[in-house]
Amino acid sequence: MEVFHTREGMQEKILRLKDRNMTVGFVPTMGALHQGHLALIECSLKQDDATVVSIFVNPTQFNRRDDYEEYPRDLTSDLQELEDRGVRIAFTPTEKEMYPEADNRVFDFGHLDQVMEGYYRPGHFNGVAKIVSKLFDVVMPHRAYFGEKDFQQLAVIRELNRQMGYNIRIVGCPIVRESDGLAMSSRNARLTNEQRKEAALISRELFDARNNMDQLSVGEVKERVIGRLNKNPHIDVEYFEIVDEHTFKPISRWQESNAQRGCIAAWIGGVRLIDNVKFSY
Ligand code: PAJ
Repeated sequence: MEVFHTREGMQEKILRLKDRNMTVGFVPTMGALHQGHLALIECSLKQDDATVVSIFVNPTQFNRRDDYEEYPRDLTSDLQELEDRGVRIAFTPTEKEMYPEADNRVFDFGHLDQVMEGYYRPGHFNGVAKIVSKLFDVVMPHRAYFGEKDFQQLAVIRELNRQMGYNIRIVGCPIVRESDGLAMSSRNARLTNEQRKEAALISRELFDARNNMDQLSVGEVKERVIGRLNKNPHIDVEYFEIVDEHTFKPISRWQESNAQRGCIAAWIGGVRLIDNVKFSY
């Protein structure tokens, strides 16, 4: 596997691939790779002539210093994993390489920035847009793959792609879960054994609510999910919203949307987990 650390080296490689008319697929990650990341990678390996995976823990998208510092990092085993999966090209730049000088750009994602993750993590999506636009500039992929685990991020990336005129095909991939339903996340590694068990309640309540939506109003579903989870002394729900998948506007009646999605953020100990489920089916 070829591992590039500089933007210049990476870009030269991409230009050589494009000279040979190869299609380039791109999977940006922050490392601590798990099956969720690997599913995106598999998807690209199947569809694209060349797959580029980046690993970079992006400081500008963390709104809490401790979260950035405690974010799990294991580059050696990540690179081994990529090699084992048949990935041939990795991009692992340093912070200085991606941010040689302060990046003061301000993006405007309108309403997307004001609800849920946008509201509770101010500046987060701006930081995501900074790094993803820089990565897109270097990798110039035909297709880029993002998980529905970060459902709002996927919408932000589509909007970024539109605003910047990149013309990249943004591919959204379904959430990969542990056998007890917990959405895979690099942050799960920070849960104690006991917290890890409790964490499965989050997806269990989401699916339970979805399965009972015919008997319940939107308000009742929200109360039920939040109430049941908060009853657990280890879990603290930050928000649970049911929104229209396309506009991200919260709905108050099922009929207001034909693509409703329930999105949640909850704290377990000092770890913040997010998940979402499609309500319309
Ligand atoms: P990271 O959290 O490492 O996730 C990288 C990609 O993997 C994202 O598109 C995310 O949605 C996807 N992913 C994570 N867990 C998943 C799961 N359980 N099922 C399916 N997909 C999953 O998201 C980021 O990094 C960063 O914000 C990044 C886009 C790399 C910019 O820094």
